[in-house]
Amino acid sequence: MKLLTAKNMGFCFGVRRAVDMALAAAEEHGRVFSLGELIHNRQVVTELKEKGVVPIDTLDSSTEGDTVIIRSHGVAPAVYYECRARRVNIIDCTCPFVMKIHDIVSKASAEGYIIVVTGDPKHPECIGINGCCGDNAVFCGDFTAENAESRFNDDFKERFEKNAKLCLVSQTTFDRSAFEAMAELFKKNFVNCVVYDTVCNTTRDRQREAAELSSKCDVMLVLGDHHSSNTQKLANICAERCKNLKRIANISEIPLDIIQTNGIIVGVVAGASAPDSLIREVITRMSEQEKATVDCCTAENIENVATAATETAEQVVETAAAAVQEPVVEEGETTFEEAFEKTLVRIRNGQILTGSVVQIVDGEVCVNIGYKSDGFIPRDEFSSDPDVDPATVVSVGDKIEVEVLKVNDGEGNVLLSRKNVESKKVWEEFSTDADSEGKIVDAVGKEVVKGGLIADINGIRAFIPASQVSTKYVEKLDEFVGQPMKVKILEVDKQRKRVVASRKAVLAAEAEEAKRQKWAELVVGEKVHGIVRRLTDFGAFVDIGGVDGLVHVTDAAWGRVKHVNEVLKVGQEIEVLILNVDQEKQRISLGYKQLQPKPWTLAAEKYPVGSIVEGKVVRIVTFGAFVALEPTIDGLIHISQVGARHVTKVEDVASADASPFPAVQIS
Ligand code: F3S
Repeated sequence: MKLLTAKNMGFCFGVRRAVDMALAAAEEHGRVFSLGELIHNRQVVTELKEKGVVPIDTLDSSTEGDTVIIRSHGVAPAVYYECRARRVNIIDCTCPFVMKIHDIVSKASAEGYIIVVTGDPKHPECIGINGCCGDNAVFCGDFTAENAESRFNDDFKERFEKNAKLCLVSQTTFDRSAFEAMAELFKKNFVNCVVYDTVCNTTRDRQREAAELSSKCDVMLVLGDHHSSNTQKLANICAERCKNLKRIANISEIPLDIIQTNGIIVGVVAGASAPDSLIREVITRMSEQEKATVDCCTAENIENVATAATETAEQVVETAAAAVQEPVVEEGETTFEEAFEKTLVRIRNGQILTGSVVQIVDGEVCVNIGYKSDGFIPRDEFSSDPDVDPATVVSVGDKIEVEVLKVNDGEGNVLLSRKNVESKKVWEEFSTDADSEGKIVDAVGKEVVKGGLIADINGIRAFIPASQVSTKYVEKLDEFVGQPMKVKILEVDKQRKRVVASRKAVLAAEAEEAKRQKWAELVVGEKVHGIVRRLTDFGAFVDIGGVDGLVHVTDAAWGRVKHVNEVLKVGQEIEVLILNVDQEKQRISLGYKQLQPKPWTLAAEKYPVGSIVEGKVVRIVTFGAFVALEPTIDGLIHISQVGARHVTKVEDVASADASPFPAVQIS
């Protein structure tokens, strides 16, 4: 027997990377969940499970705080959102080559291209790709290079307009020759079709080797799980050239009866998910067969072949990168590498980018920034105003500017900030606007610091000295924390990026304006409402809405008053009449008594003739005595009426300080 083995066997770069990352995570966390089986190989999945990498079918099986592995196939953007919504930690093991396809598809879809995929729409990788274009991709399904044309004519030729914008990509493990045949037909028939050869070069090499080996072997052994897509593709390629083909998922499936035939040539290829142990065991078992000679891997270097199949991740990265650099393409065709370079946005911390909003969940905004993964803005990074609900400010599809806070927040997410961009813009305005000092802007009190208050002006911290917080003395500045306010910019230090502001200046200006308006509204002879603010010897100052007027003591009452406090009290709300307005001298004369009834108009009713009242002698004259009935009404008792008998001098009967004068009758 002669044994021919492929050079490229065992885990591909993407699978090895995913397995290594998952095992490292399991070691760190004790147990992690892989969303779907990490690779299509039962044996490996069982081993991984024993080491703490537990497969789950849906996120329903996870709870908050769990760690979930995204396998090398990648997932649709919606799965990332769901992970975040469920607050599970993500370890993203999506193969970088698959990520490139996500980038291409997201961008092309955003530019209005219809995405066409050569691949199986039910394969997890294709489901993820489809999710990048809103599940609107058109799938070509399974076909070969030979039947590509009939598939194209049946299903696609009439399906699109001749000038339709089409973007053709492939599942990474698709048969390259079949893809190329289909790509040729699309390019020929649709003028606006762009083609990205996204068949993974690892796959390409394996398929090429499978074709070469199978064309010279009597028996082909295809190693790998029966559910593995790329292994199935290898099997298909081999089957076209070799009639005796055997799929081997474990060592017990080696067809010893066939390979014991004398002079037979046996070829061995392995899919990307075939574990090293299986490859090693199969080659060892085969080489142990009597008379076996091993090409490619001789009996002595079996270990080397197995080792080659278990290259370190770094080695495979180099191999994969080298493979990408030498694509087999025709002139005018876009290589995977070129496509990748074109679509890949390189980002760094602190960079400001424009992205489009793709989802808003629980106050977090997910933004497509053209990077291999979407970024998200946590709620507290959306606006400097914590009360702002992002859903009321932006909608899905909106373009917004964001700053990259972290390219990787430790869970594979790009952390973004809109707040920082906004504050930078405000600062930009401040520093470029020569008139920024003196401007009045909206702010929110943030924190009390030594000597004053820090206020937030659209993300910029401004210092308000304690003396500038209010027009009145403020005992506790804490009451302004969280309060919206208007402030006047007093000083902008461009070098030190420092802003000093004043709330007091705004309040003073507002009061001044209110005063100005009030003066304009004052009309002599009009009745206005006021509050007594201050009493003096000459009258009372009354606030009539931002301006004070004076009620002179003589205008406080109809009768004689020694002091205005006999009539008015501080804090009393009264109606007053505007008597005079002197804007030049800033004086307003008000009358209080003018709105009170004159006492004499009621006297006749109050003191009818014949009634007997009590009064107080206030003045004595030769012809009689004046008696005060109330402060503003004096009555005269003629000398002839002072006593029952004749009186020559009133003083004999009454004195001015005697009080009260009993029982006088009104006549
Ligand atoms: Fe990645 Fe290619 Fe493997 S796409 S997962 S390296 S087959």
